[in-house]
Amino acid sequence: MSETVLVGAGGHARVVLTTLRLNGVRVVGIYDDVSRGDQEYILGVPVVGGLHQVPTDANVILACGDIASRANFAERFANQLDLTPIIHPSAILEAGIILGDYVQIMGGTVINAGAQIGRGTLINTGAVIEHEAVVGEFCHVSINAVLCGRAKLGDRCFLGAGAVVRDCVSIAAGVTVGINGAVTRDIIEAGIYAGVPARKIK
Ligand SMILES: CC(C)(COP(=O)(O)OP(=O)(O)OC[C@H]1O[C@@H](n2cnc3c(N)ncnc32)[C@H](O)[C@@H]1OP(=O)(O)O)[C@@H](O)C(=O)NCCC(=O)NCCS
Repeated sequence: MSETVLVGAGGHARVVLTTLRLNGVRVVGIYDDVSRGDQEYILGVPVVGGLHQVPTDANVILACGDIASRANFAERFANQLDLTPIIHPSAILEAGIILGDYVQIMGGTVINAGAQIGRGTLINTGAVIEHEAVVGEFCHVSINAVLCGRAKLGDRCFLGAGAVVRDCVSIAAGVTVGINGAVTRDIIEAGIYAGVPARKIK
């Protein structure tokens, strides 16, 4: 059987490792092109080297929070990605939800009835995806962010910590919402939005 490795040696690698352990998955090594000083181990797992050193028969799991890197690594390791969703045991997943390949659902999250999460998306600690809300591909819904009922988040969106999207509101692809931002109306243009109510800042 192939051995499991992580790509990405930043902070999110710790969260992924912890969650995998709770699910009984053993990780043998971590790879990243970004040098992180003298860091040789993360939670006892060796940081082996750059991405070009990932064994071609390894089972690869994404371990970075950055959206562009997640999409990039997914493409690069498409033939060896572990497609199984990673779900922290403390997450609450209600009836009738649809999860895409290799989504990551972290601790204390709630995915309510009928919600959909696209492939490669990360739902981070404490976030809430309410009933029938739809999250696109390769999004990062940060800690304690909330997507209210029937709201829609396009592909490659980043919802900052504590951000809230009002029920039934739609957000276009490629949108970032800053920490504690409140999205009260549809956003149709990619960009960075912040504040209450959220306005485009970049
Ligand atoms: C919105 C955000 C992406 C903007 O980052 P940036 O592009 O580097 O922008 P800056 O920090 O230069 O800020 C630009 C302006 O927006 C303001 N601003 C930044 N973030 C803001 C926020 N969340 N709410 C309100 N205003 C904000 C800044 O004060 C600044 O205003 P000024 O020009 O009057 O001084 C960033 O501040 C943010 O909130 N990131 C989310 C981080 C997060 O959630 N991390 C969790 C990871 S799990």
